[in-house]
Order: sequence, then C-alpha cells, then structure tokens
Amino acid sequence: MKPIPRPAEPGEFLPENYFRRLSLSELFTREAPLEVDLGSGDGSFALAMARQFPDRNFLAVERLLGRVRKTCKRATEARLPNLRVLRLEARYTVEWLLPHASVSRLHLLFPDPWPKVRHHRRRLINAEFLGALSKVLVPAGDFLFKTDHEDYFEWATDKLSLSKYFQSIAWDDQCGELSQYPQTDFEAQWLAEGRSVHKLRARNVST
Ligand SMILES: C[S@@+](CC[C@H](N)C(=O)[O-])C[C@H]1O[C@@H](n2cnc3c(N)ncnc32)[C@H](O)[C@@H]1O
Repeated sequence: MKPIPRPAEPGEFLPENYFRRLSLSELFTREAPLEVDLGSGDGSFALAMARQFPDRNFLAVERLLGRVRKTCKRATEARLPNLRVLRLEARYTVEWLLPHASVSRLHLLFPDPWPKVRHHRRRLINAEFLGALSKVLVPAGDFLFKTDHEDYFEWATDKLSLSKYFQSIAWDDQCGELSQYPQTDFEAQWLAEGRSVHKLRARNVST
C-alpha cells in the first residue's frame, strides 16, 4: 500500500518529488534573492531575517517535525509570506535538492559539532559539502557559519582554507547589514552561559 503523504503545514514547502533538483519558481512564486537557514531549529533567526528583509525570500531547513511546525505557526501568525520551511536533512538538501546558482546567502548557525573524534565524519562541513554548496550559491554568494565549539570552528576554517571554491572574508559587524544579524536561540543560550561564539564568513569564488 502506498503511504499517505503528510499534509503540508501552512508555509511549509513539501517538494512534489525529492529525487530531482527543484526550480526556484517551485519554492517561491515571487522572484527575489534567496537565503537559506540550514538547521533552523525553532526558526527565530529565519523569522527575524524575513521580518527585517521583506524583499528577500528565506528557506528554513530543519529535520525535526516539531520544530518545523513551530516555525510554520510563527511565520503564519507573523504573516511572513517570504519565509518557507522545508523538513529535510541538511546535506541532502544542499547536495541534491536546491537549484544550482540560486542561493545568495547560506546561514549555518550552531550546527551539531559532533565533538567525539570518531564522530567527526558526521560533521556537515567537509570538502564534498563545500563543493556542493559552491554550486548552489550564486557567484560571490556568502556562506555564514557560527559555532560555540572551538574545535569545530578550527575544523571549518581548515576545510575552507583548503577549498578552491571559497575565500574567507571579514565578518564585519560594526557596520553594514551584519551589524543587525539576529541572534539565534542557541546563541542566546550559549552567551548566557558565558561561552564564546566563533564566526566565519566565506565567499563563493567558483565560476
Ligand atoms: C543546535 S541546533 C541550532 C538551531 C538554530 N540554528 C539556532 O542556532 O538556534 C541544531 C539544529 O539543527 C537541526 N539539525 C541537526 N542535524 C540536522 C540535519 N542533518 N539536517 C537538518 N537539520 C538538522 C537540529 O534538529 C537542530 O534544530
């Protein structure tokens, strides 16, 4: 018997077909720069960004249904048609689903650091991921990464410096739009606990 598909939450994006790359027009009817929040949790960051930049489209990607539902509910209540939520695995989304040259900025904020050495291979950032990411980002698109985990930060810095597709650039939060970069839920929690936050920004230089 064929499984009955789960109905989409309001504001949720349920792909018709998970085995082919999407086109931008399936995601949003309106053409606008697209930003992706990968591992969006309860969605506070994506909601704040969608509110701050109504002229951009935002896709929040999260694998836990409860968090997806919460984000959809908050986006609907806040009347934010420029935010959609996709319940899917992060690596799969970047490697197989997002259209090539479609994303102007991808935010990866406080992903699981997989601290044990035997689990390092589960870390999202690696050479394959960066290769796939360079294809979905537009030329000169940005990858923005934050973590409270020093070892994961060094790991990410290392992988980016080895990648021919990215060039590290300054995360300038004194002026410009990064000065209003919203805090995420986990960031607020870590900062309240006195932990430091490490951040990096890299530009897609692939052609
Ligand atoms: C530590 S939380 C950070 C959430 C949010 N970015 C923040 O900073 O508040 C990591 C989030 O990523 C989600 N996540 C972890 N691995 C994932 C994966 N492989 N694909 C999609 N989401 C994932 C988790 O369910 C969780 O909501």
